[in-house]
Amino acid sequence: MATVLRDLSYRYQWLYDGVSRLATLAVGGESQFRQLPMVGVPETPGLRVLDLCCGSGQTTAFWVARGATVTGLDASPRSLDRAKVNVPEADYVQGFAEEIPLPDNSFQVVHTSAALHEMTSDQLRQILQEALRVLEPGGMLTTVDFHRPDSTVTGRLLWPGLMTFMALFETETSWAFIDVDLVELCKSVGFRSAEQRCYAGGSVQVVQAIA
Ligand SMILES: C[S@@+](CC[C@H](N)C(=O)[O-])C[C@H]1O[C@@H](n2cnc3c(N)ncnc32)[C@H](O)[C@@H]1O
Repeated sequence: MATVLRDLSYRYQWLYDGVSRLATLAVGGESQFRQLPMVGVPETPGLRVLDLCCGSGQTTAFWVARGATVTGLDASPRSLDRAKVNVPEADYVQGFAEEIPLPDNSFQVVHTSAALHEMTSDQLRQILQEALRVLEPGGMLTTVDFHRPDSTVTGRLLWPGLMTFMALFETETSWAFIDVDLVELCKSVGFRSAEQRCYAGGSVQVVQAIA
């Protein structure tokens, strides 16, 4: 599915950023959205963080601001070129999240924001397996993404907006993703534990899993 707007939003950063600002109003704005997956993560200077599917560095900047040592990985050279300009303090690697070209046990945190919904179910499993491999034992995977809204008033009010957003900007993988049980998937690939927190009538989920 999706429309030409999807390609345009990847081509023009101002459009991507504008849509992000609009889409994150439900959780109190973009800054709030970017920091949701950081709740519960120690603010240790030098914390080794891998920002998987980092895009143009939208959340990478927030990790850097917390004093983390960040590596951003993305498949898109154009996004990485932008990230290098937007957040020069981080290191960057081009590659696929399902085949991370980095050694085992390299990171204390693996983060991904607004990207897992772009993956097929096979990719999703491979990415979680790879996140587990590059995390040191006891490290944390922390991810924020869409989720199917619940039946509360807030969830019902937000559902039409989310559907419109997904129809205009997302691929069919996002429709399947909102029903995936990420907690169970994390546990099934070997994470010791996993927990989910939902926001904005269930339309946004944070999943944190311990390696
Ligand atoms: C919707 S953007 C999210 C960017 C950023 N994390 C954010 O929160 O705005 C998804 C990003 O995932 C990247 N991507 C998609 N599939 C990928 C894959 N298999 N491996 C690595 N990056 C991928 C895209 O290039 C894009 O930059």
